[in-house]
Amino acid sequence: MWAELRDLRENIDFGTPPRSGTEVTITVDGVAVKVPSGSSVMLAAAKAGKNVPKLCATDTLEPFGSCRVCLVEIEGRRGYPASCTTLVEEGMAVTTQSDKLQALRKGVLELYLSDFPEQDIEGGWSEFHNTLQQCGVSSHPYEKGDHHQDAPVDESNPYFLFDPAKCIVCSRCVRACEEIQGTFALTISARGFESEVAAGPNHSFFESECVSCGACVQTCPTQALVEKSLFEGGYQRG
Ligand code: SF4
Ligand code: FES
Repeated sequence: MWAELRDLRENIDFGTPPRSGTEVTITVDGVAVKVPSGSSVMLAAAKAGKNVPKLCATDTLEPFGSCRVCLVEIEGRRGYPASCTTLVEEGMAVTTQSDKLQALRKGVLELYLSDFPEQDIEGGWSEFHNTLQQCGVSSHPYEKGDHHQDAPVDESNPYFLFDPAKCIVCSRCVRACEEIQGTFALTISARGFESEVAAGPNHSFFESECVSCGACVQTCPTQALVEKSLFEGGYQRG
């Protein structure tokens, strides 16, 4: 299972799962692309070779639309819809790059960075870091306020650990547990700043319903959930 999940990670991620409706044609940054109806704008963009930055979307899970990094412009529509939860329509004209989109994505990513371990920003390796690079964001302008950087690491599972300091609450692990494994071991508890990944009420991962399938670890974009075997001599932030 772990090896299969690692292989999956190497493949191109179209952002949302494939659909099988009748084909529609849209343009993405002027490039025409045909995709089945029911597909997301994000998937169409990826097929057109225009990868929209994303965090909460991945093509092994149904779209969720929580991170607001994947915003695009659509001709004739107001605002900046999330490309992962917006479905294609015949003749749609999508723009994935503009000064306004860049500014919006930068603002969102800077907020995530403001509550991420300082020492793990530079030189880090994860999907989150790739997205930061894609959007040209490497720092944030905020003073140190309320944060999750002192939250204890859950190392109770023999195979992986959970570091809440790196969690951006994208819910990919929760959805992977439900949609891929069908286990429902994880949930997001509380709301707003207090929201966090919980492996059952007051349970560590080891004490939870978790069957150690690895689906949550494979999908986590920040390595908040990460294999222990990657850290010889024990895990340390930074
Ligand atoms: S542990 Fe990872 S996948 Fe789960 S919510 Fe946090 S960042 Fe997202
Ligand atoms: S990737 Fe679309 S909202 Fe997160």
